[in-house]
Amino acid sequence: MSRDLQMRRCFDLARLGHQSNRTNPCVGALLSRGRHVRAEGFYQKFGGPHAEVDCLSSLRQEDTHPDDELFVSLEPCNVDAKTPPCRDLILSRQIRNLTVSIVDPNPQISGSSIEELSQQGVTCRSGLLERLGETLLRPFHTSITQERPYLVLKWAQSRDGFIGRQGARIKISNGITDRLVHKWRAASDGIMVGTQTALVDNPRLDNRLYYGPSPTRIILDRKSKIPLTHHVLNDGHTTIICGPQRRDKDFVRTSFLPYGKEDDLSGLLAQLYKLDHGQILVEGGAELLRFCLTNGLWDECRIIVSDRSMHHGIPAPKIDLQEAGSWQYGDNQVLQLLNKR
Ligand SMILES: NC(=O)c1ccc[n+]([C@@H]2O[C@H](COP(=O)([O-])OP(=O)(O)OC[C@H]3O[C@@H](n4cnc5c(N)ncnc54)[C@H](OP(=O)(O)O)[C@@H]3O)[C@@H](O)[C@H]2O)c1
Repeated sequence: MSRDLQMRRCFDLARLGHQSNRTNPCVGALLSRGRHVRAEGFYQKFGGPHAEVDCLSSLRQEDTHPDDELFVSLEPCNVDAKTPPCRDLILSRQIRNLTVSIVDPNPQISGSSIEELSQQGVTCRSGLLERLGETLLRPFHTSITQERPYLVLKWAQSRDGFIGRQGARIKISNGITDRLVHKWRAASDGIMVGTQTALVDNPRLDNRLYYGPSPTRIILDRKSKIPLTHHVLNDGHTTIICGPQRRDKDFVRTSFLPYGKEDDLSGLLAQLYKLDHGQILVEGGAELLRFCLTNGLWDECRIIVSDRSMHHGIPAPKIDLQEAGSWQYGDNQVLQLLNKR
């Protein structure tokens, strides 16, 4: 396997952890001797062993060799946090060659681990397939530099630019894109919706169509408008209501976070980040999406465009989609736009 392919394999391994890494990065690691892969690993679970540890755990201490090379999608850590520093593991296993894609954006690390390993005689290279590595690491970059969840704005719109009709639930996506949305949900720690969407659509906001977990529902409800009979307050799944504490029921899996004014959304996101929400899918409606777009509270937009027209209704948020990637799923087109930073 060529060096590029070995790093690509690290990216693939890293993605296997994307449903459970929360505010931590997706990381993949691979140990090879020449073109021969000897061991692989990835960051499987928030708080669990790092990718390097997972990779090397399948080999005995004496099985590593000076000719081995460790590929990792992100610079190994050198800080004692939830787990011991991977720098020390690399040294104790006498690995003499290290290649990483991305230098850790965490200001506590930021190249210092590579420097320390070099000083200890390890040949270190960084920047292999850096752009791909950066794309993989976007959520972690937001996490570490902005201390808020990575925000994915998602909506479905008709060909002529409407997302719904006032007071009615309208179906725009098709069966394939419905499943795709559930895949996105499974990779998110939370789904956020505005009050009107929760009221009018009475959505379940869970993951029923893809393997993996259902995220926490995060409902903006600063005036306690959501009826107790609505799914988000009644079906036993976890919900966070952003608004005043309610006492009209014994809430079992519902918690409350203070939220009063629209301007407080940044503060609310900071609170959700402290609760280990690394990625939030914002599923509308138009007013909430527009607020996020206007205030720069977004990292990615994923837009489902149906080939049917609605002629009137609630206008979809306006955004320049010239640089969006595009995929076709039956009669739906999916557009993805990354926020430049
Ligand atoms: N096609 C799609 O993808 C899609 C997705 C979702 C919804 N929809 C449709 O869209 C409609 C609802 O959309 P909508 O635009 O009327 O309402 P919305 O965005 O769901 O909710 C807006 C309301 O949320 C509350 N809110 C609290 N903080 C806010 C903030 N920072 N920014 C914006 N709103 C905040 C406000 O209510 P208070 O003043 O009461 O606090 C506001 O009026 C529904 O008919 C639904 O079917 C379509």
